[in-house]
Amino acid sequence: MNSSTEPQLISNVTQSEQSTLGLWEQIKEDWIAHECDWTKPGFRAVAVHRFGVWRMTVEPKLLRAPLSMLYRALYRKIRNNYGIELSYSVQLGRRVIIEHQGAIVIHGDCVIGDDTIIRQGVTLGNRYLDRPFDAPKLGNRVNVGAGAKIFGNVNIGDGANIGANAVVLCNVPAGATAVGIPARIIESKQPVSG
Ligand SMILES: CC(C)(COP(=O)(O)OP(=O)(O)OC[C@H]1O[C@@H](n2cnc3c(N)ncnc32)[C@H](O)[C@@H]1OP(=O)(O)O)[C@@H](O)C(=O)NCCC(=O)NCCS
Repeated sequence: MNSSTEPQLISNVTQSEQSTLGLWEQIKEDWIAHECDWTKPGFRAVAVHRFGVWRMTVEPKLLRAPLSMLYRALYRKIRNNYGIELSYSVQLGRRVIIEHQGAIVIHGDCVIGDDTIIRQGVTLGNRYLDRPFDAPKLGNRVNVGAGAKIFGNVNIGDGANIGANAVVLCNVPAGATAVGIPARIIESKQPVSG
């Protein structure tokens, strides 16, 4: 894999774009993306994330304080009950799906694009202890297999597939499939999404 490859991160959603949708509209989209099952841990984790982002828009701060207390309690409940660490500081795109639960750790500075799927056992984190703010950036429609780890300030392009249990340390171009430890690009039989 060529670490200098610059994948196309065409339309990562920023917090400002995200805020054009109301909280309930976002949560409704997420609910539909999670097969309209409000009991799914992934849906609950994303919904708490949306709430955490939304409460930061509440003014004055005095009014926000009880919402922040509620957010922190819900965040801990999701983390402790389902093993999903998803801080409100993650730039989460629309309709992101968290399939299943357990050992899902997402660095607070990650960017995750629209319609991306994250599965059980996935870590998106920093690579080196002395570079704690390095975090992966995933494009739209990225398909992250169970147990995959993506470390450091790497870009995963739109529509990329990350194989189960891969350890990704380099950029992955749009539409590419990466497998193995360390991950390498393979010729995929999977259709490349547009
Ligand atoms: C990565 C993936 C999408 C590749 O699919 P594909 O493009 O159809 O690739 P293939 O199955 O044709 O495999 C191509 C090569 O990669 C290898 N490979 C595929 N997935 C691999 C993986 N996760 N780790 C290591 N090697 C893998 C195959 O053995 C094959 O090697 P070979 O050419 O030496 O025979 C798929 O294997 C995968 O890992 N999906 C994630 C599934 C998942 O997490 N499910 C969770 C359900 S809860």
